[in-house]
Amino acid sequence: MTDKLIIFDTTLRDGEQSPGASMTRDEKLRIARQLERLKVDVIEAGFAASSNGDFEAVQLIANTIKDSTICSLSRANDKDIARAAEALKGANRARIHTFIATSALHMEKKLRMSPDQVFEQAKQAVRFARNLVEDIEFSPEDGYRSDPDFLCRVLEAVINEGATTINVPDTVGYAIPELYGNFLLDLRTRIPNSDKAIWSVHCHNDLGMAVANSLAGVKIGGARQVECTINGLGERAGNCSLEEIVMAVKTRRDYFNLELGIDTRHILAASRMVSQTTGFVVQPNKAVVGANAFAHASGIHQDGVLKARDTYEIMRAEDVGWTANKIVLGKLSGRNAFKQRLQELGVQMESEAEINAAFTRFKELADRKSEIFDEDILALVSEETVLHDKEQYAFVSLSQHSETGERPEASIVFTVDGKEVKGQSEGNGPVDASLKAIESHVKSGAEMVLYSVNAISGSTESQGEVTVRLQNSGRVVNGVGADPDIVVASAKAYLSALNKLQSKADRVAAQG
Ligand code: KIV
Ligand code: ZN
Repeated sequence: MTDKLIIFDTTLRDGEQSPGASMTRDEKLRIARQLERLKVDVIEAGFAASSNGDFEAVQLIANTIKDSTICSLSRANDKDIARAAEALKGANRARIHTFIATSALHMEKKLRMSPDQVFEQAKQAVRFARNLVEDIEFSPEDGYRSDPDFLCRVLEAVINEGATTINVPDTVGYAIPELYGNFLLDLRTRIPNSDKAIWSVHCHNDLGMAVANSLAGVKIGGARQVECTINGLGERAGNCSLEEIVMAVKTRRDYFNLELGIDTRHILAASRMVSQTTGFVVQPNKAVVGANAFAHASGIHQDGVLKARDTYEIMRAEDVGWTANKIVLGKLSGRNAFKQRLQELGVQMESEAEINAAFTRFKELADRKSEIFDEDILALVSEETVLHDKEQYAFVSLSQHSETGERPEASIVFTVDGKEVKGQSEGNGPVDASLKAIESHVKSGAEMVLYSVNAISGSTESQGEVTVRLQNSGRVVNGVGADPDIVVASAKAYLSALNKLQSKADRVAAQG
């Protein structure tokens, strides 16, 4: 007899809280579609009350995604909960996830509330939410550092009020696997109505143990829901990574004996999409989705794998979306081949007109670059989304001059709300000159805190993918741009970051 392990993805909420990882509404929808393709059980689409932008993103995802449950986070107050319910109205299956901190530290220093006040507010919040939606998740924030007696009191009460999932967050990533597993087991054993709810784990990765702690919560503690994010995206060191926990449970089915609904063949596309959208590069040695995850460099390993794959491989690369011997597209590839590759990559375009626009850009790229890899197509599609979003700033053209011994100069044309403008500047190098040329017009005053270039497919022929991180008035955003010319890629990344700064301007800081 096997149980099902529910996969709750919070890339679009907790993942997006990572400094710089903010996404536009359409980017979120694209990722949500990929999560649906992955057959994620629950998608936490955002924190509806935190901003109008988040509300709209949750609403759009709720109205579009049909197979997964759509969830919105909400503080434990009526106003937030009502806003979450409003955003979720169009969902086939809706969940409200309400939370309040329960550790002595958080209650005293952050909330300035007594334990009795927190107890009452938690109960009241779940009671209110339960009148709006049937599926209610409750999280005691900083749960793992909370007094177990107090936690038992709160959790028993919220289950009585109708909470259907109880999530125990290790908000600050302080847990150790065995201790966390037993903490959960202890709660479940002591709370008389614990069997009326599904128990869930939510582990942060500050000590690099988010996946291990989550697995212990499942194995020892009896949790049947795991909260996780693609690539482990999330605040500080991130969250439990979806690809790792899913493949651990699937590969070691002999040990966990749990069913998963996930279609793992879409994992790699999801990882690339999230990385390209947020500009958070996946390290090459990252488990499951890193470029080296299935590469065998040593002669002994290569020899072994050629004789019998399972000598050094515990998973099949194709089971997580790595495909061998795939035909590389190029100048002669037709619209059908392009469309089919989009489908294989899990990219869904809204209309034939959108496919045509992307295909035109594909052809332009193929004129400049002989082989078009999957990474190129995903980068192109990301840019297409930006254009489709009708962002405030969009790149048009750039010319720059640099010569040994001369100070580089750049002149750039871009649009502001559809109207073309021109900027000019000198700089320390061609990239510096180009970005200063943009600033000469925009005057954002933003500080650049990160600039990185990555060759999308490894060689000098490939497109450069640039990430620019900007900071302004306490807001941090990442912009990503790709082009065979890295100066152009840098300008695109800079404009994309400016767009994100703009769209984040009205957002209040989410907690948790
Ligand atoms: O880490 C945390 O405590 C959270 C909660 C809001 C679930 O993200
Ligand atoms: Zn969290």
